[in-house]
Amino acid sequence: MTDRHRKQWEALGASDPYWAVLTHADKKGGRWNKEQFFQTGVDEVEGIEQKLARLGTKHGRALALDYGCGVGRLSRALAARYTKVIGVDISQAMLDEARTANAEIPNIDFVRGNGHHLSGLVADRSVDLVYSNIVLQHSPAENQRSLIGEFCRIVAPGGVIVFQTPSHANLRTAKGIVHRVLGNRLLNIPRRFVYGKAGVMELHTLDRDEVLRILRGADLRVLEVERYDSAGPAFVGYLYVAAKR
Ligand SMILES: C[S@@+](CC[C@H](N)C(=O)[O-])C[C@H]1O[C@@H](n2cnc3c(N)ncnc32)[C@H](O)[C@@H]1O
Repeated sequence: MTDRHRKQWEALGASDPYWAVLTHADKKGGRWNKEQFFQTGVDEVEGIEQKLARLGTKHGRALALDYGCGVGRLSRALAARYTKVIGVDISQAMLDEARTANAEIPNIDFVRGNGHHLSGLVADRSVDLVYSNIVLQHSPAENQRSLIGEFCRIVAPGGVIVFQTPSHANLRTAKGIVHRVLGNRLLNIPRRFVYGKAGVMELHTLDRDEVLRILRGADLRVLEVERYDSAGPAFVGYLYVAAKR
């Protein structure tokens, strides 16, 4: 995690945090209705829990970790199902809003992370569910490798990790070709016009085969790899579900 990335998310979190989490064009400029916004988290977590039930996981309910929690959209929904939730984010502005928006919910701790690892924050083999959606995609591949390794370290025996990241640009789309040809450095120039000087949102990939190697190398059982394009149509993305033996 470079200083550049942290600054980007501080700026996004300070200027329009709800839109920076869910970038629907009609919600830009503080136009998310908070009730509707948090309901998307309830629906998403419900879908994940149904998936885990279908896959037959027997994970515990003591502790869930929401990695890259933003304003707590998913932490809040997880808090209704787990005894304790830890939401970790690199952006202090996002965490400030998360604490304000979820002040009435006692079983969530919002914690600042360094974007690389969780040592000193989360103990080995302690978390029943690690969940991370629309987060890893914003970090360079070396960060993603390190964070997936950390998810494998902290998950408890019998616990599960569920996360999304794009594997590669979708070269069947014009935007995917543009991304592959130009890369983030050049694309940050037009992005600055759209999001403002320091409010750029980069998108990065990590190849699916590499993700699977990391998971299997850490002795996790890969239960499902589902095509999941939450990074948008310009990328081929996946949702990974893996269980600790
Ligand atoms: C698009 S938002 C998604 C928030 C939340 N996962 C959700 O779906 O509601 C991405 C969040 O990830 C955080 N983030 C980006 N890179 C990160 C990293 N390497 N480590 C921790 N948080 C990160 C940003 O600050 C931002 O709050």
